Amino acid sequence: MTREKLRIGLFGFGCVGQGLLDVLNSSKGFKADIVKICVKDRTKKRSIPMSNFTFDKYDILNDPSINLVVELIDDAEEAFSIVTTAMKGGKNVVTANKMMIAKHFKELVEMQEEYKVSLLYEASAGASIPIIRNLEEYYDNELLYSLRGILNGTTNYILTKMYNEGIAYQEALKEAQEKGFAESDPTLDVEGWDAKYKLCIISGHAYGLFLDPGEVFHYGIKTISKFDIQYAKEKGFKIKLVPYVGKTNESTITSFVLPRFISHDKYLYNVDNEYNGVITEAAFADKQFFCGKGAGGHATGSAVLSDISANSYGYRYEYKKYQQGTVLNYTRNYKLEVYLRYQNEKDRELFGFEEVSEYFSGKFHKYVIGVVNLENLYALRDKLSDMDVFIVNTGRKF
Ligand code: HSE
Repeated sequence: MTREKLRIGLFGFGCVGQGLLDVLNSSKGFKADIVKICVKDRTKKRSIPMSNFTFDKYDILNDPSINLVVELIDDAEEAFSIVTTAMKGGKNVVTANKMMIAKHFKELVEMQEEYKVSLLYEASAGASIPIIRNLEEYYDNELLYSLRGILNGTTNYILTKMYNEGIAYQEALKEAQEKGFAESDPTLDVEGWDAKYKLCIISGHAYGLFLDPGEVFHYGIKTISKFDIQYAKEKGFKIKLVPYVGKTNESTITSFVLPRFISHDKYLYNVDNEYNGVITEAAFADKQFFCGKGAGGHATGSAVLSDISANSYGYRYEYKKYQQGTVLNYTRNYKLEVYLRYQNEKDRELFGFEEVSEYFSGKFHKYVIGVVNLENLYALRDKLSDMDVFIVNTGRKF
């Protein structure tokens, strides 16, 4: 297969940009030319000579000799402007920007068709785990029942440190930031936004459904307490932040992001620190488990390099599930069993519990385990961050 000679214009030189350069420099089999790097901060010390950099995006976007734009900045709206300008100008693009893709998914898919360019973004979900290409290529004809996993390295790192070492939440978050796992605004990680954006991207490739992220319920780990971890430990569980997408019947799917109890016999139990894990359940392949580093410069850089390499031999996503034209409905009418730790009875009442199986009211802590409808959780979504509660999906069938 003939490979096109790549001349790359790179946007952003933070943790992932530097990671990509390291990976590219150590890669023996593959060479690509980074012609220019566009950055915002004029004062930041750089690891390579300043002659490699520009502060003007049009030095890249208007350079006809550059045939691939690699976008690794963390401002989703600016990224959208860069990516769409590049695509309209006939340049192929590789990006890791999950928020940008999730928020403009359908439009970006249509633009690839319209301008006959390719947009690849394996690094945007699960970093080093090649889940998007697997969904595109391997599962293109397979009936996929569900996909769940760990898609955020920062929260998994925090939960691991709190569970294994008893480290306080803030301290664990600080470590995750120092190690370059967290977003510039870490509320995106700890409130579950980041996992949700990744879930929306994955759903596009798994089911051909381009979900509006605003329609998907998400909840993070911001209010987790020592009590919750103690409870999980006593029952032999770990707590992980687990996005889920799956079929509720032939023609309908649901999705959400919630912390989940994981028992020691489950694949995700040993997925610790910044590692991510994805479990697919399909009609014939049955259950499969993918695991790998989900955050950090080198892990993400390796996925970006894989896309750059794929680009050089003309690879593009075909969005096979979408092209097949099967119309799927989306529902939030879905029942889950959850653990709710709370303080005020009034808060608990808002959840509309059905079938309560466990109830505890101590001097300092209260919790209830019972069935709730995802619709109720979604209706409460704006109030949840002010409530003294923590919600965990028990994952139990009922
Ligand atoms: N902040 C993200 C995470 C980076 O922690 O997973 C990788 O997408």
